[in-house]
Amino acid sequence: MRAIRWGILGAGVISDDFVTGLKSAPGSEVVACWSRTQARAGELAARHGLRATATLDELLRADVEVVYVATPPQSHKEHALACLAAGKAVLLEKPFAMNAAEAREIASAARSAKRFCMEAMWSRFVPAVRELYLQLKSGRHGEVQSIEASLGFAQSRARDGALLDLGVYPLSFVHGVLGAPRDVSAVGSHDEVSAVLGYASGAQAAVRCSARALLRNDAIVWASGARLEVEQPLFRPESFSTHALAPPAAEAAPAPRGGLRAITQRPELRRWVQRAKGLTAPRVTLPAIGNGYAHEALEVNDCLRGGALESGVLPLDESIAVLETVDRIRGALKS
Ligand SMILES: NC(=O)c1ccc[n+]([C@@H]2O[C@H](COP(=O)([O-])OP(=O)(O)OC[C@H]3O[C@@H](n4cnc5c(N)ncnc54)[C@H](OP(=O)(O)O)[C@@H]3O)[C@@H](O)[C@H]2O)c1
Repeated sequence: MRAIRWGILGAGVISDDFVTGLKSAPGSEVVACWSRTQARAGELAARHGLRATATLDELLRADVEVVYVATPPQSHKEHALACLAAGKAVLLEKPFAMNAAEAREIASAARSAKRFCMEAMWSRFVPAVRELYLQLKSGRHGEVQSIEASLGFAQSRARDGALLDLGVYPLSFVHGVLGAPRDVSAVGSHDEVSAVLGYASGAQAAVRCSARALLRNDAIVWASGARLEVEQPLFRPESFSTHALAPPAAEAAPAPRGGLRAITQRPELRRWVQRAKGLTAPRVTLPAIGNGYAHEALEVNDCLRGGALESGVLPLDESIAVLETVDRIRGALKS
């Protein structure tokens, strides 16, 4: 297996976590890092045995195939464009950009340069979420009717606002299931936003994010055949449980007048009867590898080895669509 050589742009908290995560992604080699403050890049380099370059140009001239960009969102466009112009593939931290216009610019640069580019929305790559999406796409739970998803922490350092720092996680989760909404409404502020998304199919999604309150940080998907509960934390879930709903015919059937069947049809007992019949699936647990960042890195490695210019799991148009929804939420907050 050809090793994929990585460069790291930015030397903050998350770069450190990502480089640690890469150690659990076989076939990855981290070569060099750069950050605005050289001392910080030096510390990251020393901790992980990398080379800290003196300039961004030096990083971009280094023998690396892909650059992980983890600078603040205001710099994502500038740094992604610089990497692409230097012929490097890019894994760009969430939020992909400040708004949809910037996201489109980055995607268009990647497509013109014929270089791979992907948003580092790590929650989309962990095994539990991929399994949940597969199950929903297979149709075995019926049609998705509504979703609730949230991410929020008390006294979070949401420098760029709760919507950009935290809201993109539940929004990306919802987009992965239902796609782009037809209607968007929202209330909120810099620190807390509640948005309701409406779909042409009649489906709805309620998304909450907060930098001042510890929310449930999970997601619930109601499909016509089941309620699926994704356990917190939504940025890296490892389990979900499936609660099968009673088949409509059984619901509609009048309860027999006597005997055991009459007892088992009583609403308060039906859940236990369904469980006994195997209608309520057990909890699915699929642990993430290491600290969880390896999964997105493995996707990048696979794409680069296979010559793909975008990820099939999280294509660029989906990252753009999430930011279009962010823009519409911002618009709804102003009105
Ligand atoms: N996936 C996740 O779990 C996760 C979690 C948290 C954050 N994030 C995302 O990761 C990104 C970075 O977040 P963070 O918490 O790691 O931030 P951070 O700790 O503030 O680190 C940012 C790094 O970027 C450098 N930097 C800032 N502006 C720069 C510029 N103009 N040119 C070059 N380097 C610059 C900083 O250097 P200085 O020391 O000079 O400022 C620092 O090394 C953000 O997009 C954030 O949303 C992702």
